[in-house]
Amino acid sequence: FEYDLLVVGSANADLVVGVERRPGAGETVLGSDLALHPGGKGANQAVAAARLGARTALLARVGDDAHGRLLLDSQRAAGVDTSGVLVGGAPTGVALITVDPSGDNSIVVSPGANGRLTPEDIRAASALVTASRVVSTQLEIPLETVAEVVRGLRPGTRFVLNPSPPQPLPAEVLAACDPLIVNEHEARVVLGADAGATPEEWAGALLALGPRSVVVTLGEEGALVADASGPVRVPAVRVAAVDTTGAGDSFTAALAWRLGAGESLAEAAAYAARVGAVAVTRQGAQASFPTAEEVEEIDEVTTA
Ligand code: RIB
Ligand code: NA
Repeated sequence: FEYDLLVVGSANADLVVGVERRPGAGETVLGSDLALHPGGKGANQAVAAARLGARTALLARVGDDAHGRLLLDSQRAAGVDTSGVLVGGAPTGVALITVDPSGDNSIVVSPGANGRLTPEDIRAASALVTASRVVSTQLEIPLETVAEVVRGLRPGTRFVLNPSPPQPLPAEVLAACDPLIVNEHEARVVLGADAGATPEEWAGALLALGPRSVVVTLGEEGALVADASGPVRVPAVRVAAVDTTGAGDSFTAALAWRLGAGESLAEAAAYAARVGAVAVTRQGAQASFPTAEEVEEIDEVTTA
């Protein structure tokens, strides 16, 4: 395999404003100065993996505009192969993000060019898909495009999906996931009405839908991983959160990369939790992602 990880997904310009609290309907609040960062769940995953040392490529679509150039620059600076990044068709995706004093964010995404990444684009890039040990996707691109990625996988390539933002998933996509990575909200949407009450129940119900493995991220409670051999809890790495934006993307990328390197689900999730922990202690999404050396250092610096 030429690439450890191919990320097929979104690239957004993140427009970020700090707020004391979010406005309600019809309300105006004043926030901090505006920050502009390269983001998008796909672009974030690619940068996170490359910074850890993975040979990484991105298959995405950006607009022929300044935001698109910002995104291409950040990918290249991180060492991501951008030969699969298509340009044009619509403006680059934008994420409108507010971050509150606890580091929590809320996000509205205008997909723009991400929504124009088509199944045909995936077929045209089939050489990238078959050159990759692991392929990772999210849902800021059309679901039919993700389904086309699944159809183009070669035997031996591992497929990872974080269904964010969540929607119900077709059986064909679910069956390919190894793992499906969800938080509680995403688990509930994918499962529909009978979601159950505990992470163990969500994981069991999700496995029954067809994925070979499932990872349920639990924020400060860590994560739960599950496959045919049963569920295993992975403890959290405790840190003081500054900005959680993109931390989940770095978790997914690190997990995907370590699985491709042959680690077990529990080992890879424990490593990914350390990567995500570093990311939440720093501002921004991509700017906050650690190198492998910084992940090694985290115990001495931040764990209780
Ligand atoms: O997961 C974080 C990302 O979600 C941000 O970078 C923003 O672009 C949205 O896609
Ligand atoms: Na961050």
